[in-house]
Amino acid sequence: MIKLGLTFVLVLCVSVLLLLTACNGRPLRSTSDFVAGGNPQAGWQAVQDYGCHTCHTIPGIPGPDAYVGPPLDEWASRSYIAGNLSNTPDNLVEWIRFPQDIEPGTVMPDLDVTEDAARNISAYLFNLR
Ligand code: HEC
Repeated sequence: MIKLGLTFVLVLCVSVLLLLTACNGRPLRSTSDFVAGGNPQAGWQAVQDYGCHTCHTIPGIPGPDAYVGPPLDEWASRSYIAGNLSNTPDNLVEWIRFPQDIEPGTVMPDLDVTEDAARNISAYLFNLR
């Protein structure tokens, strides 16, 4: 009986934890169906570490809305990146790392994003549909 009670409490704790994580907007998965090697969970963190949200409004990222760049909602439904590249996960990685090479003079700066971080960010954005 006590064992059953303990199991119940444990299950309850884990559920509450998962719920809290979900409320935070952080995706629960660490693998992506869309971006090979991408980790949406790590991407959620990387977006904030690199400060993408200081210019873009991005669903699930805490903080005030910003409109220096376009909002990145429903990203997976987009056809083009910056009106320039087809919206594929690999092209998005390229854009995140080298926007100034792709569109010289764009307001979006090269932020020295590592290949891994860009892949994780791409995985996060491709989760937005
Ligand atoms: C200083 C402001 C600024 C920062 C910081 C910034 N961006 Fe941008 N971003 C822009 C602007 C401006 C554009 C529009 C570029 C264009 O269309 O020429 C843009 C375009 C984009 C696009 C294409 C949007 C579309 O509608 O096609 C994506 C995706 C994007 N940024 C992702 C990111 C990510 C990820 C980061 C963080 C690593 C980031 N940006 C950081 C300003 C910024």
